[in-house]
Amino acid sequence: MSQHHPASSSSFVFSNRGELRATEKLGKAPRMNHQQQQRPFAVVTGASSGIGFELAKVLAEEGYDLLITAEDEEIAAAQRELNQLTASVECTREDLSSEQGVQRLYERIQANARPVDVLCLNAGIGHGGDFARENELPKVLRLIDLNVRSTVHLCKLVVEGMVARDEGRILFTSSIASTMPGSFQAVYNASKSFVQSFALALRNELKDTGITVTSLMPGPTETEFFERAEMEDTPIGEGPKDDPAVVARQGYEALMDDKEKVVGGGVKTKAQATAAKVLPDGVKAAMHRKQAEPAGAGKEEE
Ligand SMILES: NC(=O)c1ccc[n+]([C@@H]2O[C@H](COP(=O)([O-])OP(=O)(O)OC[C@H]3O[C@@H](n4cnc5c(N)ncnc54)[C@H](OP(=O)(O)O)[C@@H]3O)[C@@H](O)[C@H]2O)c1
Repeated sequence: MSQHHPASSSSFVFSNRGELRATEKLGKAPRMNHQQQQRPFAVVTGASSGIGFELAKVLAEEGYDLLITAEDEEIAAAQRELNQLTASVECTREDLSSEQGVQRLYERIQANARPVDVLCLNAGIGHGGDFARENELPKVLRLIDLNVRSTVHLCKLVVEGMVARDEGRILFTSSIASTMPGSFQAVYNASKSFVQSFALALRNELKDTGITVTSLMPGPTETEFFERAEMEDTPIGEGPKDDPAVVARQGYEALMDDKEKVVGGGVKTKAQATAAKVLPDGVKAAMHRKQAEPAGAGKEEE
């Protein structure tokens, strides 16, 4: 388990191997202020299950106080479980696909009257199926509202405070889907391409500041994602998946090491991400189609 050293800037972390992981940006001297006596504070969206819950768990293990959020009541069970790791876990239920939900979450963050050391913009949903002939417009627009709009909205509200303090870390849960056209999951992959591009641009804009921005790019991961996306009857939905705890740990380590991005998951996922760098978009779209096409799609009705 790593721990923030009480006498150091929150940008310095001691790992369990005893080494000092210096991730302070070049030219930035560690600053002493009253916050250093406090435990660091992290906000995690979509923390009731899957990757978000595991991210919150890693952060709790690493000594962070938490504000976790999700839409449904399961967030209270997540809070109880995380409370066994850290005393200070607050939770709040908000529908982040609505502008008001994001605003209320931000008000809750402000009510804490403490700086956000880590922001994990993780809440997201998928939606499988044929865009032109199957997908229902309200569902795909809701996906965009959550995956894209709420991510930008909350990021904007929180990053302004980070800029004022010249410190903070932001982790975006993107996806390897961001690197390929997502036939039969078209709007989802496009939403993650947006998140990926946005994260990398923001990182560049903030390169001379004390703020770090990292993109976590999981491959297929064993969470509630595919069931919710109605993709259980697809090869990708039925296929092998990575452990969300492993993915979250990789995201946390990359965040602390100020990495631009990290592919989350095992060897197969990493190989897929490497292949995606060189394959033409048309080939990637065809490969994605094979993985995401629902069973029976394109076959004659009996
Ligand atoms: N699983 C994968 O294969 C995979 C791969 C790459 C990237 N990702 C990304 O990883 C992130 C987490 O997904 P996951 O795989 O861990 O799936 P998950 O288990 O379904 O978790 C999704 C989380 O987002 C929350 N959420 C959904 N709709 C929301 C809304 N309208 N307002 C607020 N919170 C909402 C859920 O809370 P409620 O239950 O309360 O709705 C839940 O906590 C997503 O951004 C996803 O795109 C997943």
